[in-house]
Amino acid sequence: MTLPRPDIRPNNPQFSSGPCTKPTTWSLDALNDAALGRSHRAAIGKNKLLAAIETTREVLDIPADYKVGIVPASDTGAVEMALWSLLGARGVDMLSWESFGAGWVSDVVKQLKLENVNHHDADYGKLPDLTKVNFDNDVVFTWNGTTSGVKVPNGDFIPADREGLTICDATSAAFAQELAWDKLDVTTFSWQKVLGGEAAHGMLILSPRAVERLESYTPAWPLPKIFRLTKGGKLIDGIFKGATINTPSMLAVEDYLFALDWAKAQGNKDGLIAKANANMKVLADFVAANDWIDFLAEDAATLSNTSVCLKISDPRVVALDADAQAAFAKGLAKLLDDEGVAYDIGAYRDAPAGLRIWTGGTVEQADLEALTPWLNWAFETQIATL
Ligand SMILES: Cc1ncc(COP(=O)(O)O)c(C=O)c1O
Repeated sequence: MTLPRPDIRPNNPQFSSGPCTKPTTWSLDALNDAALGRSHRAAIGKNKLLAAIETTREVLDIPADYKVGIVPASDTGAVEMALWSLLGARGVDMLSWESFGAGWVSDVVKQLKLENVNHHDADYGKLPDLTKVNFDNDVVFTWNGTTSGVKVPNGDFIPADREGLTICDATSAAFAQELAWDKLDVTTFSWQKVLGGEAAHGMLILSPRAVERLESYTPAWPLPKIFRLTKGGKLIDGIFKGATINTPSMLAVEDYLFALDWAKAQGNKDGLIAKANANMKVLADFVAANDWIDFLAEDAATLSNTSVCLKISDPRVVALDADAQAAFAKGLAKLLDDEGVAYDIGAYRDAPAGLRIWTGGTVEQADLEALTPWLNWAFETQIATL
């Protein structure tokens, strides 16, 4: 049986998990005031960078005594700066349950070659046992595993009186999930995820305890200039006031300022969290109503409201070998791409076969509602070819 093509198409077929779609109100005109061709160290540039920092603090409700900095090389740059600058002072507990978390483990074990490392790993769809984590050590984890669609439910697993620091990659969680600032010593994210900004720079947010570590501990290894957060044993405060380490893109900064203004108009983080939750519910209702598809996340409390990862659970597909299952899922995503109803919704290259649909706040609920009949159409079309 094949289904007729649904009548309604999403207005916007962009469901990529990064770069994510921009707010509906965005146009190139939003960038008209960019400080192009000017020094980023001139007042005009520095003021924009400072506004990006302070508006981030406002939208995310970051405590006044936390430092918020703009750093090079997107989220990866921010995480690497933290790992290379802070680790080595005590043992490390590394948490991973999908590809990005696994990447940080590999850095710490194979590049930094730290020896006192406990690795808490879980398969795609699950979380490691959070009760086993030793918070006397430094703890590195990803808040929302973008490639499995599994997030930590909240910050309750982190003790307030921990000895170690927590280092959290929150790139697909910030602006969509409540981040427990009092439990996070280092938090990172990039601009192109939930706010649909331009990819370029990373945000690095430090608690007072993280600053204390930076000012009291010098790693045994050399640090490239691009990673250096201290000078003469003191935090380089300028980084957290808009005096970036090296030259930022003022075009990307302008775009981020637009995105932050848009975020304020949505009701700051709370409005954006509500939007992402409502978006995710469209897919949750769809999964509940259809037998052929299921979430990769096994526990509803850990189900991401941004990077929703789906597996094909129809027995005819499950019976196929792994390569054929992957080909089936890819074929389904391609049908939707060819129809212009959904772009970039194939599972991440290292993740199990399936689909990944972004539901962060820049995605419109009506577009997800229009997409779901197309998912059924694509499945029936694809299954008819088996
Ligand atoms: C959890 C997570 N960490 C890190 C990255 C890498 O981010 P960037 O490309 O901003 O460095 C991504 C990108 O999707 C991600 O989802």
